[in-house]
Amino acid sequence: MKDTAQKLAEQYHVDLYGRYPLTLTEGKGVNVTATNGKTYLDALAGIAVNCLGYAHPVHVDAIQSQAEKIVHMSNFFYNEPQSELARLLAEISGLDKAFFCNSGAEAVEGAVKLARKYAYLREKSGNIISMKNCFHGRTIGAISMGKEKYQKGFAPMAPGFEQVAMNDIPALEDKFNEDTVAVILEPIQGEGGIHPVEKDYLEKARELCDQYDALLILDEIQCGIGRTGTMFAFQQYGVEPDILTSAKALGGGVPIGAVIAKEHVAEAFGHGEHGTTYGGNPLACAAACATINTLLDENLVDKAQEKGNYFMNEMRKRAEDLDAIKEVRGRGLMIGVELNFEGAAVVDAMLERGVISNCASDTVMRIIPPLIIEKDQLDTIIEVLTESIKEVQKNHDKA
Ligand SMILES: Cc1ncc(COP(=O)(O)O)c(C=O)c1O
Repeated sequence: MKDTAQKLAEQYHVDLYGRYPLTLTEGKGVNVTATNGKTYLDALAGIAVNCLGYAHPVHVDAIQSQAEKIVHMSNFFYNEPQSELARLLAEISGLDKAFFCNSGAEAVEGAVKLARKYAYLREKSGNIISMKNCFHGRTIGAISMGKEKYQKGFAPMAPGFEQVAMNDIPALEDKFNEDTVAVILEPIQGEGGIHPVEKDYLEKARELCDQYDALLILDEIQCGIGRTGTMFAFQQYGVEPDILTSAKALGGGVPIGAVIAKEHVAEAFGHGEHGTTYGGNPLACAAACATINTLLDENLVDKAQEKGNYFMNEMRKRAEDLDAIKEVRGRGLMIGVELNFEGAAVVDAMLERGVISNCASDTVMRIIPPLIIEKDQLDTIIEVLTESIKEVQKNHDKA
């Protein structure tokens, strides 16, 4: 039976999302409750957004107290939470300057504009190189550098992008030339199915960018903000980007995106050359400051690594007796369990058992829970995932 929200959405909301027949109303910790009265353990975290889970008291307090002071102002004025967030991001990234927007795709657009402006000042007019199987968002710019699947029906694509296979060094060397503007990549491809970049590839990308005065843009919209066991995934590689994009978990659920850059890159932008009305408003920035400070205060970043290793080791043990599992991979709490068949039915079976999960790239079960998750809750996900895979496998065997 459809509830009111579902009926209204059917009538008035554009039919864009393949939704589960559940209306979620509130959450606490890693659990969310639906109008059917059931509570679900969330292994998806609003797609790697709710890093502090639901209703974390520090997050709630930051939003409430900022709302009482001032929610929004224009960027014609200084705002305290915005300045503090820029400082915090410089501190945790090692880069120098930030500007703010409202979503991941918008951060990617900002990064592309900044890279192009930097190139323009050096009289370069080449392409930005992106990776096959990447995902950078849904704007025309972002789909132009992404998978064909997301481009279909939206031609013409924006010019100025070309793709290479990630982790193929000769292919990257082949594409590079004096005119190359930038390379953009996700240190761990998320929507593409949890594929980490290899260290020597990232090092080579850095070396080529230095050689040709091109910029290395790392998109950490999904893998950043502590999820992989360091504040940013690139910090595990010893390779620094020139431009870093962040969004998703940055606001702990309040929409915000950021472009963070090295000083000499950031100064390519002049007054009025980029901007957005809402970007970095006090409410979003207060939520983001509270999110980052809580991750640090509760040591949730180091713990993400321990928890992720625990999960992956346990899943690998189970995979020994389960032919359906091809590979378990990831970093920290950004985990992919690749199956030998499509994962949609496993997501359904997990939901039946009270766990919200997701499948990326058709066959990869993506486990990206809130970073506050406890060991016994990870055990529940492991149990439910294993049972659900077995059930779907049995159905496949019968068919
Ligand atoms: C790596 C990466 N970049 C960009 C985006 C786009 O972010 P948004 O959906 O906030 O526009 C996503 C979203 O999944 C992402 O995973």
